[in-house]
Amino acid sequence: MAKLTERKLYDVSAPNASTGIISGRSSNVLNWDDVRFSWAYPLYKNMLGNFWTPFEINMSSDIKQFSSLTETEEDAFKKIIGLLAFLDSIQTDYAMHVSKYLTDSSLNALMTVLAFQEVVHNQSYSYVLSSLVNKDEQDEIFEYWKHDPVLRERNDFIAEGYESFVNNPTPQTLLESIVYDVILEGLNFYSGFSFFYYLAKNQKMVSTSTMINYINRDEQLHVYLFANIFKELRKECPELQTEENDKFVQETFVKAAELEIKWAKYIIGDRIPEIPISDLEAYIKFMANKRVNELGVERPFEGYRTNPMKWIKVYEDVNQGKTDFFEQKSRQYTKVSEENGFDDL
Ligand SMILES: [Fe+2]
Ligand SMILES: [Fe+2]
Repeated sequence: MAKLTERKLYDVSAPNASTGIISGRSSNVLNWDDVRFSWAYPLYKNMLGNFWTPFEINMSSDIKQFSSLTETEEDAFKKIIGLLAFLDSIQTDYAMHVSKYLTDSSLNALMTVLAFQEVVHNQSYSYVLSSLVNKDEQDEIFEYWKHDPVLRERNDFIAEGYESFVNNPTPQTLLESIVYDVILEGLNFYSGFSFFYYLAKNQKMVSTSTMINYINRDEQLHVYLFANIFKELRKECPELQTEENDKFVQETFVKAAELEIKWAKYIIGDRIPEIPISDLEAYIKFMANKRVNELGVERPFEGYRTNPMKWIKVYEDVNQGKTDFFEQKSRQYTKVSEENGFDDL
């Protein structure tokens, strides 16, 4: 397959609204009223509407509470932060690689906002850790991703998918890398998120959980952006619209779910009765099904159409008001109901 060519910096003969997502022509001028994809501007507005920085979060109550976490909770807390720090770091760089080949100025703009948000996510982990542990321990946590064997297995899986694209950028490797992206942003974060929501549910580490909620909210839009690029790419390049690629999506998600379950058993296992591992396993399979469906492919796991951990919905709801969390009062835990509590497919 032919290699992808980078977007031209300057092209006076090309239109402002691009002629293609890759290998198209674009003047590179950004006029939000003249863009190729109708979903791009609403997404941009949503991404900016979510704007936040870690400085807004007061960590004082978390600082007091941290030493009262159980050993399992503290260990999971540090390992999950260590994992997220890696994922968000690599994500910034991957997004910038992808944006080079998008021959559409509005998608490049969205990718730039996404990369900026990943930088903020990374800052939040440093911000949390510098409030809670000493510098040596913080440095040690930021090294977990290199040495912890279970963590490495998951990270290598994603990194290899990204590297195949970066080292050999073709429409096919780009498409495959987006599958790994949606795993990273839409599946790998989620057992970690659920742990923080469990803490918040028990009124523990609410400030950290607030930040995790903002990150979760950003990630949902990132998944939406990449899923749209994935689908537009397949529309534009019919040679990518194959059964093999459908199968690739399903098999890669099945493997990712296995690794995610292994990770969940490793960090949480059966040590936190409020997050039974069977629920977490079902939640991971449910999320995998949901993401594959969002990519326009048939779900790989039979069943798993409803969220088995309904209480999570309250914490991850994108439409929750920002002030609700900043005030950091006891949250409205009773909000989950049959009507609004399901994260169904
Ligand atoms: Fe992120
Ligand atoms: Fe992201």
